[in-house]
Amino acid sequence: MNDANSSELFNPSINVMEQANIPEYQALYDYSINNREAFWAEQAETLGWYKKWDKVLDESQAPFYQWFSGGKTNIVHNAVDRHLTNANRNKMAIIWEGENGQVRNYSYNGLNREVCQFANVLKSMGVEKGDVVTIYMPQIPELIFAMLACAKIGAIHSVVYGGFSTDALASRIEDAHSRVLITADGGWRRGKAIDLKTIADNAMKRSPTIEVCICVKNNDLEVEMEATRDFWYHDLVALPIASPKCGTEQLDAEDPLFILYTSGTTGSPKGMLHTHGGYSVYTSTTHRMAFDIKPEDRWWCAADPGWITGHSYIVYGPLINGATIMLYEGAPNYPYPNRWWQIIEKYGINILYTSPTAIRGLMRFGDRWPKKHDLSSLRLLGSVGEPINPEAWKWYHQVIGNGNCPIIDTWWQTETGGLMICPLPITPLKPGSATKPFFGNEITIVDDEGREVAANEEGKLIINNPWPGMARTIFKDDERYKSLYWNEVDGKWRYLAGDSAKKDDDGYIWVIGRMDEVLKVSGYRLGTAEIESALVSHPQVTEAAAIGLPHELKGNAIHTYAILAQGVAGSDELALELREHVAREMGRIAMPEDVTFVESLPKTRSGKIMRRVLKARALGQDEGDLSTLEE
Ligand code: PRX
Repeated sequence: MNDANSSELFNPSINVMEQANIPEYQALYDYSINNREAFWAEQAETLGWYKKWDKVLDESQAPFYQWFSGGKTNIVHNAVDRHLTNANRNKMAIIWEGENGQVRNYSYNGLNREVCQFANVLKSMGVEKGDVVTIYMPQIPELIFAMLACAKIGAIHSVVYGGFSTDALASRIEDAHSRVLITADGGWRRGKAIDLKTIADNAMKRSPTIEVCICVKNNDLEVEMEATRDFWYHDLVALPIASPKCGTEQLDAEDPLFILYTSGTTGSPKGMLHTHGGYSVYTSTTHRMAFDIKPEDRWWCAADPGWITGHSYIVYGPLINGATIMLYEGAPNYPYPNRWWQIIEKYGINILYTSPTAIRGLMRFGDRWPKKHDLSSLRLLGSVGEPINPEAWKWYHQVIGNGNCPIIDTWWQTETGGLMICPLPITPLKPGSATKPFFGNEITIVDDEGREVAANEEGKLIINNPWPGMARTIFKDDERYKSLYWNEVDGKWRYLAGDSAKKDDDGYIWVIGRMDEVLKVSGYRLGTAEIESALVSHPQVTEAAAIGLPHELKGNAIHTYAILAQGVAGSDELALELREHVAREMGRIAMPEDVTFVESLPKTRSGKIMRRVLKARALGQDEGDLSTLEE
C-alpha cells in the first residue's frame, strides 16, 4: 500500500512555517536524545506542581520506570484548576453538539463547577482514592466531567467505549473489581436512540461487583432502575451534597490516573495503567508541539473519549493546554454527509484530528459535500489509528485542507499514552509515513534477532527508551506487562510495539501494521481471541477462528470460521445469527463480515490456530512454511 521510495514530498506552506511553535526539528531532537531528562524536566516546568519532583526519571526498577518521582500533582490541577486563576477562566473549554442539533457550552469556570459537583456526588457514594470507577457512556460532556471528577478525588477511571456491548463491559468491570459504574440511559446514532442502560444492566448481572450505578439522562429512553443500586445523576446533583466546590486531591506523580483496556495477542483485554504526572507532561507537550496549538485555537479530535485517542487528545492534553475542544455525539454523515464540514464551518475549527477510516468514509460521498462549506479556518489536520493510504491522505490534504494544511500523521498506542512518531507542521511530508520520532524517542526497526535492519527493509518496531507518557504496567499483572512488551538487550530495556515497519533512506518511518493477532478494524483495536471467544459462547459453536482481511473502507474486516457442535448444520440463517451474537456480546464494531463453517482449523502441533494459513488461503496466496502444521 505504501511505497516509501516512489513517494512524493509535500513541503509545508510558508504561512504554517512562520508561526510554528517549534521552528526546527533536528537540533531539538538531538538535544532531547542527549539530554532526555533535562528535556522532559523543561516541559514539566511548564505545568503546575504542588511539590516539585525529586528525580525526573527513576530507572532502578526498569522496565518499571518512574517519572517525576517525589513530585506532588493531580492532572486536574493542570487541566482545570490552574485555568481558573488565569485568562482562561472565562474561555470556552468545551463546545458540545448532539446529533439532533442541541448545543451545550462550558467555560473553564463552568467545567470546574460541573467537575466539582460530580466529584462530590462520587464522594457521597463512598468513592475513595484508589477505587476504580467504570464509565460506560456516550460522547456527552458528562463523560468528561466523570473522568475529571474521578481524577480530582484520586479515584482511577476505567472508561469502556460506549460502542462495546455486554460481554466486553462485564469483563472489564470484573477485571477492575469496580464498585461504581457511571452510565447513561442511552446515546444517539443516525437518528436512533441507542440503549446503553440495558447493556449495563446485563453486564452488572454478569459482574456483580457493582454496588452503585449512576445514570445520566441523555434521552428519554424507558430504563429500569433498581431501587437500591441505580441513581439518576440529575437527582443526585440536585442534593446539597453536590456542591460546586471541591478540593483537588494532592497526589504523587506516580499515582494511577486511569486504566484503559486494550486488546492483545491472547486472552482477556489488558488494563493499561497510566499515572498522573508523566502522562500530564507527555500529553500536553505532544499536543502543543505536534499540533502547534495556539491560545485561540478551536481543537477537534473527532475520536471517542472511550479510546486512548480521546483520553489523551480530547480530554487531558488539550485541557491542560487550555484549548477549546469540540465534542460531537453522532454519526459523521447524519442527516447528510456534510455534518462534519458543517461543524467545522459553524464553530471555526482550526485543527481536526481523526482516523483514516473516517476520512475514507467521508471521501466516498464525493467532494461536493465539503465544497459546500467554508473550511478556511482549518490550519492543521491530523490522522491516527492505522496507516493512512496515500489516496485518502491526498484527498484530506487537497479537498479538506485546500492544500494548505499539513497532515500530522501520528503513530502511537494505548500503551504509549501519547503520540510517538509524527511530523511537526514544519516537516516535509510523504503521504502514508508518520515521518520521524517525537522528541526524546529513539525508534529502530529490528529483525528477529534484535539487530537493526537496513533502510527500506521490514522489521519490528521498537522503542529504545522510556518516555513520561508510557503505561506503567498492566493492571494487577506486572509480569504480563514485562514479558509482553519488554526485552533486555545488553543491559538496556527495549519496548516492543507489536507493529512491523520500515525506515526509508531519509529516516522516515512507514508503519505497515500489526504483527500479532490484533486487528485494526475501522481503526478500532480488537483481538482475534475476543471475537473467537464471543463466537464460541454461542451454544452451537465448538471452535472458532477470526482473521482480518483488507477492506477498502475499514482498513481490515473481520472474517470468521466456525466448527459447529455435532449434529448442527450450517446455514445462512445460522451464519447471520452468529454474526449478530458477536455484535450483541462485544459490540457492532466486532460484527464479522461472514462466518464460514468448517470441519477443522489449521493448527500447530501445540494446538494454536494458524491464522496466517487461513488468511493466505482466503487471499489465494502462498501458505508459507507449513512445517509446524498438525497432520
Ligand atoms: O498498529 C498501530 C496502529 O494502531 C495500533 C495501536 O492501537 P490503539 O492502542 O488502539 O491506539 C490507537 C490510537 C493511538 C498500533 O500498534 N496505529 C496507530 N496509529 C497509527 C497506526 N498505524 C499506522 N499509522 C498510524 N499513524
